[in-house]
Amino acid sequence: MKHSRELVFVCTGSDCKKAGGKKLLKELEKEVKNEPFKGKCKLIATKCMDMCKSCPMAIVDSQFIKKADATKVESAIKKALEIQS
Ligand code: FES
Repeated sequence: MKHSRELVFVCTGSDCKKAGGKKLLKELEKEVKNEPFKGKCKLIATKCMDMCKSCPMAIVDSQFIKKADATKVESAIKKALEIQS
């Protein structure tokens, strides 16, 4: 049986942190512990992604999410995991 988890990268560089990246990471940390994401994705805090003009930045399923918020990231994770919302 194949076991895979979706990797979710959230920038915690200084510009993104100021633009809400820190809050975004905290919100996502709570969300990934609950269904439908529990055990299916892994959050990874990164350093600056060199896309500071679009802060806060996140990456889900190899897609950059500019001006990311929890809603955008969650829907990208659902899409990547093929979860119906
Ligand atoms: S600080 Fe996040 S992209 Fe630069």
